[in-house]
Amino acid sequence: MQHKLYLFLLLQLPAMFISSCESNRGQIIPYVKVYFDLDIYAELGDMGIGTTKVFPNEGYQGIVLYRESDLVFHAYDRTCTLWPEHDEAVVEDSVFFGVFRCPECGSTYLLMNGAEPNSGPARYPLVEYKTSVQGNILLITN
Ligand code: FES
Repeated sequence: MQHKLYLFLLLQLPAMFISSCESNRGQIIPYVKVYFDLDIYAELGDMGIGTTKVFPNEGYQGIVLYRESDLVFHAYDRTCTLWPEHDEAVVEDSVFFGVFRCPECGSTYLLMNGAEPNSGPARYPLVEYKTSVQGNILLITN
């Protein structure tokens, strides 16, 4: 019985660390109020599934929107998470589709994988904002 308890605690330990890191991610970059909406058909009708669109005047260093499926969108701040104080915005890679690269440190982030870094020194994904679809409207908020 005691062995099962130890095993349970051992298996839960990594999950506890992962969730505590998770809550810090939003504080990696300075807080900026984000609250804007887009018409899915009029403003995003040209966005195919798997494509991205950049909104340079939203978020801290601009927001890149990724369309996962018809009604599922992810909105990421473009600020590189390695040294956010550099105020460096990631830009789309010229070769690989859906990959965004920090021009300063070269870290690359794969948007289809939750904007996790897939190369370079950065260890945290791009900060993600909330998205929700209500009728024709996509709402993006903190
Ligand atoms: S932002 Fe300075 S290292 Fe990527």
